[in-house]
Amino acid sequence: MSTNTRYVRIAGWGKALPRESVTNAALEGRVDTTDEWIRARTGIQERRIAGPGETTSTLATEAATAAMQRAGITAEDLDLVMVATCTPDYASMPSTASLVQDALHARRAGAFDLNAVCSGFVYALATASQFVLSGAYRNVLVIGAETFTRILDWQDRSTCVLFGDGAGAVVLQSTEQPGGLLSFVLGSDGSGACSLYVPAGGSREPTTAETVAERKHYVKMQGREVFRFATRIVPESVSQTLDRAGLVPGDIDLLIPHQANVRIIDAAVKRLGIDESKVFTNVQRYGNTSAASIPLALCEALDDGLIVPGDLIVMAGFGAGLSWATAAWRWQG
Ligand code: UT7
Repeated sequence: MSTNTRYVRIAGWGKALPRESVTNAALEGRVDTTDEWIRARTGIQERRIAGPGETTSTLATEAATAAMQRAGITAEDLDLVMVATCTPDYASMPSTASLVQDALHARRAGAFDLNAVCSGFVYALATASQFVLSGAYRNVLVIGAETFTRILDWQDRSTCVLFGDGAGAVVLQSTEQPGGLLSFVLGSDGSGACSLYVPAGGSREPTTAETVAERKHYVKMQGREVFRFATRIVPESVSQTLDRAGLVPGDIDLLIPHQANVRIIDAAVKRLGIDESKVFTNVQRYGNTSAASIPLALCEALDDGLIVPGDLIVMAGFGAGLSWATAAWRWQG
C-alpha cells in the first residue's frame, strides 16, 4: 500500500459543562410547566446553565484543553481552531474561535467560527477533515460550544425548558491508519428559516429599544414543524450517508444523534430499523445543547468505553436553518 495514503483520526476529546445543574422540578418554580410535561414530551430531566464568568469561549477552551491533553499535543502544535456555535461570546465580532485561540496560546493556528446551529459540529468535523485529508494541516481542533440559555426567553415555556449549555472538542490528526471519516451529507432547507430563529439583532432587524422591548432577541421556535422535519431528515440523511460509504444501517455500532428530544431519536431509530442499544443519548442530563450536543455525547460514549477500534459511528445533526449534517466515522483508536 502507498505510504502516501492519508486518513484523519480523532486523537483526543474533551468536554466542559457549567457547574450549575437545574432540574425540571426547579424550573416549575420559575415557568408555568411541570416535570411530568417536560419528561413526557422530551425526555429531559435536567440541564446545565452557564453562570457569571462562564461563556461560550470559556467552555470551549476548557473542552479544548482536555482534548489536547488526551491527544498529547500542545497549543503550539495546532494548525487551526474551529468553533461551531450559534451563541458566540460577541454578537458579530470577533469570532469565538479567536478568543479560544488566544486563551490556549495557539500562536501558529488560524481560527474561525462556523454556524450551522445544531448541525454545526458535524459541519465543522467534515470541513476540518478536508484540511487534514488534503495534507494542508496536521492538527486541527474542532469544538462545538454553546451558551444557548443566554438567548432563551424565560417567559416562553415552549422553548426555555428545552435547552442547556456546554462544550465538546476533538483534535483531528493526520494518520496513515485507515478509517476516520468515511462519508458525509451536509444539507440545508432555508425555506424553513423562521421555524427556529432569533428575529432581531442582525442586519435584517438591527437592535433598537423596540426590538428589545418586544423580546425579539430571544429564540422563537415552531416546535411541531421542527419535530416533523427532524423525524424525517435524520433517517433520510443517515441512510444517504451510509449509502455513500457502501454501508447499511445494520452496520452501525453506535449512532450519536443530535440530542434534542428522545421522541425524535426514538422515531428516527425505529425508521432506520436499528437496535436501540446502538444509540447513545444523554439529553436527559443536558437538554438540547445545540452544536455542543454531538461532541458532548461522543466524549461521554468514549469515556464510557462504548466505542472500540473498528467501530462504525454515525453522527447525525439537525436543527435551525433548517439544516442537517451526518457523518460516518470508522474509529481507529
Ligand atoms: O435542535 C433542534 C431544535 N428543536 C427541536 O428539536 C424541537 C422539536 N420539537 C419538539 O421537540 C416538540 O415539538 C416540543 C417538545 C417542543 C413540544 O412538544 P409537542 O408535543 O409538539 O407540544 P406542542 O407544542 O404541540 O404543545 C402541546 C401543549 C400546548 O398546550 P395546548 O395548546 O395543547 O393547551 C402547549 O401550550 O403543551 C403546552 N406546552 C407546555 N406545557 C407545559 C408547551 N410547552 C410547555 C411546557 N410545559 N414547557
